Amino acid sequence: MSDPIQQLDRRHLWHPFCQAETGPDLPVAIQGQGAHLFTQDGGRYLDLVSSWWVTLHGHGEPSIAAAIARQAARLEQVIFADFTHAPAAELAAGLAALLPGDLNKVFFSDDGSTAVEVALKMALQYFPLTGQSERTEILAFDQGYHGDTVGAMSVGHSSGYFRAWQSLLFPVSMLPWPATWAGDQTVEAKEQAALAALDAALSERVAAVILEPLIQGAGGMRLCRPAFLQQVAEKVRAAGALLIFDEVMTGFGRTGSLFACEQITLVPDLVCLSKGLTGGFLPMGATVARDGFCQLFVGKTLDRAFLHGHSYTANPLGCAAGLASLKLLTRADCGAARRQIAEIHERRVARLAASLPHLQARTIGTIAAITLREGRYGDDSAKAIKTLFWDNGMLIRPLGPVVYFLPPYCVSLDELERAWDLLEQAVRL
Ligand SMILES: Cc1ncc(COP(=O)(O)O)c(C=O)c1O
Repeated sequence: MSDPIQQLDRRHLWHPFCQAETGPDLPVAIQGQGAHLFTQDGGRYLDLVSSWWVTLHGHGEPSIAAAIARQAARLEQVIFADFTHAPAAELAAGLAALLPGDLNKVFFSDDGSTAVEVALKMALQYFPLTGQSERTEILAFDQGYHGDTVGAMSVGHSSGYFRAWQSLLFPVSMLPWPATWAGDQTVEAKEQAALAALDAALSERVAAVILEPLIQGAGGMRLCRPAFLQQVAEKVRAAGALLIFDEVMTGFGRTGSLFACEQITLVPDLVCLSKGLTGGFLPMGATVARDGFCQLFVGKTLDRAFLHGHSYTANPLGCAAGLASLKLLTRADCGAARRQIAEIHERRVARLAASLPHLQARTIGTIAAITLREGRYGDDSAKAIKTLFWDNGMLIRPLGPVVYFLPPYCVSLDELERAWDLLEQAVRL
């Protein structure tokens, strides 16, 4: 017999990406502390997926919790079309200071999907303002994922998640993504083919190219090399189209730099942020634009303005959490923790790549992944490994056959090594 919360859950809740009929009763989470989640039945789980890639410094991080509490006691919410406030202004300034070049203008929204919708809508409004009304097409990369709202689904339609809603989606051409891994001998040929496809697709009708820089997340933790990204950026810029980097997953230190876009020399026109933006405490998104881009929307009439907004735009609690999170992120000890995680991933990936090359082991920054076999999201390839980890007090959430680690930065190095030991043991069995 399940407990009362589970009974209420079964009666009234509808969970994301779950099949209630075949799924188990879900454990009741009662506390999060550091890298761990605690459940009502006495379970303690190492959160190796940062609770869907949001938890940056750890669950219950005291300085973020305190910042939210302080802000809640002063100003919990205010209509952002008629007011500004210190947490929003200071967070925007903090993001601008960390992002490269003149990425200085921040438009807040609610989550990763809305950050992407905002970028797409801005890109489409931009070109008529420059007199290039024919630029209406969007290009994206095969198996990229950008969220679950209609525009985000359209630019991620090849990810395989959205078959039920094909009729809603606007047409987007997909380019090949040269996914690579440790010891990959085919990477150069894949990159050349992808660049040739990009050359063929870029025309005077293209408004923007959107991509997840350096690593496609939900599509299966698929890495590309920075040099490829650099060439893509150069081609897109030379063709006069806008470059949109969806850094919803890669932002805030996940890929070795604070933002993946720092690993190339060109500055993207728009950057989408969410997930780690509030350290994982509150839902919030941001779309950051370059100064010159934003300037085009400024004029004497409202029809030039960007007529888009959400009730909770720039929610003061989210902004206060974001500021507290940025403060931690830019400390030397946080950088050192990220480097130590990356070193463990690199060593363990090299070991796996040497002995089991078919697993296509790969890593970038604090993210590491392997592919067990050919497969797709929703298949059972990694079910046994997920259960093994669960039985050993570790939470993973494989993407079909792809098993990955993306821990919060406070994870203990011993525990991370133990997770790798368990993974090695599982794949050698
Ligand atoms: C790269 C990327 N973009 C957008 C999204 C959508 O974010 P959200 O789930 O907050 O809407 C995600 C979510 O996983 C993502 O990984």
